[in-house]
Amino acid sequence: MSEGRGKIIVVGEHGVVYGRPAIAASIARGVGARARPSEDVGLDVERWGVHLSLPRDAADSDLGRAFAALLESYAGQSGTPRLRVEVRPDLPPGAGLGCSAAMGVAIVRALDEATGSPPRSSEEVAERSLIWERVFHGNPSGIDSAMAAGAGIAIFEKGKALIPIRARRPLYWVIGDSGEASATRLMVEEVARQHVRDPARIEKTFDAMEALVRNARLAIEQGDTKGLGQLLDMNQLLLGGLMVSTQRLEEMCDAARRAGALGAKLTGAGGGGCMIALAKDPEDAARIRDALGLIAKDAFVVDTGA
Ligand code: PMV
Repeated sequence: MSEGRGKIIVVGEHGVVYGRPAIAASIARGVGARARPSEDVGLDVERWGVHLSLPRDAADSDLGRAFAALLESYAGQSGTPRLRVEVRPDLPPGAGLGCSAAMGVAIVRALDEATGSPPRSSEEVAERSLIWERVFHGNPSGIDSAMAAGAGIAIFEKGKALIPIRARRPLYWVIGDSGEASATRLMVEEVARQHVRDPARIEKTFDAMEALVRNARLAIEQGDTKGLGQLLDMNQLLLGGLMVSTQRLEEMCDAARRAGALGAKLTGAGGGGCMIALAKDPEDAARIRDALGLIAKDAFVVDTGA
């Protein structure tokens, strides 16, 4: 199966939509996709009970619109390719882990393979998958798609190539899913409204986030996990100021800190979805996961870095 990876945003979400840098890490969970020739052109996501046939279902849902737009981009002299794509997501949707981007990337790779397209670089795959991602997110910075196509931990800036970060030591993260649905488009619009009302305040917040990103990069490179944890906490305060956190996410971050996390914050657009907590080592990560497991819809450990 072709693959796209999920991601966590370590620091810098929202500012990244306005051209500021952010740090993200791809995680070992993602989405798989396979395309096979079929007269019944469409998309199957068995896990979600979704079975779409084109052109009938092309306009009824974001999935239908995104798939139709992507498939159309492969149209050649003989028209749109007659393919049916099977998708297997292993990420919660609408939770800030980049599920839609991972899906877009996996489908691009599956369509490339089935249509015998010339090989693309990860950047080219991410770029092509934005046709899909724009349907879900309106004005995506591209960070999710870049991480879905790439690997590791990296600095992302809109319109630029990813800059990989060399982590001095592995980083152990606990991801907690609040179970509250997070709509990236709505949260990005919420920040945009605030930006129109009071650009100076929001730009100041983004300046502070950018400073956190610079320091977080150094902390990761130097293996200073304690320092990185403090930067996560500061980032969470700034995100709260942008009104994209929720009471539940705050409770989960507090619970993670009480269980020994070095720092915790929401990840992705906020308004629900997931939070991340940084653990000192795998044992602490397991403890934090268990603590979060009592209040979260789901909690699991991933490691990134070295
Ligand atoms: O909720 P997610 O995983 O799609 O995170 C998006 C991150 C934002 O900075 C909020 C939006 C974007 O397009 O970068």
